[in-house]
Amino acid sequence: MLPLFAALVAASTAVLIFAGGLVTSTGSGLSVPDWPNTYGWFMFAFPFSKMVGGIFYEHAHRLIASTVGFLIVVLAVWLGRVEPRPWVRRLGYLALGAVILQGILGGITVLWYLPDVISIAHASLAQILFCLTVTIALATSTGWRRAYAKQKGEGGRGKGEETPDDRMLQHIAIATTAVIYLQILIGATMRHTGAGLAIPDFPLSFGHLIPPYWDSRIAIHFAHRVGAAIVTVLIGATTGHVFFHHARRAELRRPAILLLVLLVLQITLGAITVLGNKPFIINSLHVVNGALVLVTSLVLTLRAHRSRFVDWVAGGTNFSDTPWILPDDLSDEAPRAKSEARRAKSGEVRDAANGYGGVRA
Ligand code: HEM
Repeated sequence: MLPLFAALVAASTAVLIFAGGLVTSTGSGLSVPDWPNTYGWFMFAFPFSKMVGGIFYEHAHRLIASTVGFLIVVLAVWLGRVEPRPWVRRLGYLALGAVILQGILGGITVLWYLPDVISIAHASLAQILFCLTVTIALATSTGWRRAYAKQKGEGGRGKGEETPDDRMLQHIAIATTAVIYLQILIGATMRHTGAGLAIPDFPLSFGHLIPPYWDSRIAIHFAHRVGAAIVTVLIGATTGHVFFHHARRAELRRPAILLLVLLVLQITLGAITVLGNKPFIINSLHVVNGALVLVTSLVLTLRAHRSRFVDWVAGGTNFSDTPWILPDDLSDEAPRAKSEARRAKSGEVRDAANGYGGVRA
């Protein structure tokens, strides 16, 4: 249940980002002037019949955000109670902190009449929150827990199979994810400073490769285009490396293919946003698809680092080698795992997976 719920929370965060994109794209940010109330009504008591025009987008965004906030509270508490890995529990608390801060930033944005810095921070934190919920969903998934257990032999190395540790892939995947996030920050700056149409043509800029004249908005817009080119090169390098060196590893190949598809879609949506004079649906799809590009690259990065996630509990047990910690029986078996870990530390435990005695270092 927990993996399914974590996946639901991650998916609902994507829906929330789309709803937030609609608010900005339709210019509805100030359609509801108060916060946390809506025109003086308690948020959940606001009549549906009054949700018209910009109020619809702004109020719906608040309702979806509250729902996602509630789901994240449940997720954090759930992880806190049954998740044996401290780092996964911490991610739950971080997500909880991030969603609370996100709500406050959203409220301040409204009360202070959409200051650029707060709006940009709100957009940037939304992406971090999405990264957190996706990471939790990934770390609790069955695939993550089981994938490498079967590849590991003595000493944690594969028995004649590829080792999952590819330093080159790890480095370019991290760089790709970081640069995509920077590109999104530039996109958010462009959006909230009204620079979205500062360069009206595409792929050229005022008919040239480089804009013949400059001001701050043209510079921000052009930076986003240069960013798109760099992101394209990096995604090409990461996916190329996966196809060339790890074509048989489905857990890397699948996100690599998806990343390429999402990239093509993202550039197409960006082009239509400019050439179509910012149609609000396309514009909002560009925002949410940008978030999907980011988390797909993140998933690839985390999977490329899977062997480095030693899931220590109480300093003793590597969960990827512990057949008793499986998603289905996570909640019942967590206490047992802890006691196994304690015994492992004191040198008692026998390796259940590989059948040799000894203590893990
Ligand atoms: C390839 C990677 C790209 C990524 C990851 C990306 C991502 C984003 C994101 C996330 C935003 C919104 C940020 C926010 O408000 O939260 C944005 C805005 C924008 N992007 Fe991109 N983008 C990419 C490429 C492009 C391309 C090729 C174009 C075409 C010129 C483009 C045009 C725009 C425009 C015009 C906006 C602002 C829309 C507005 O003013 O409302 N993007 N981008």
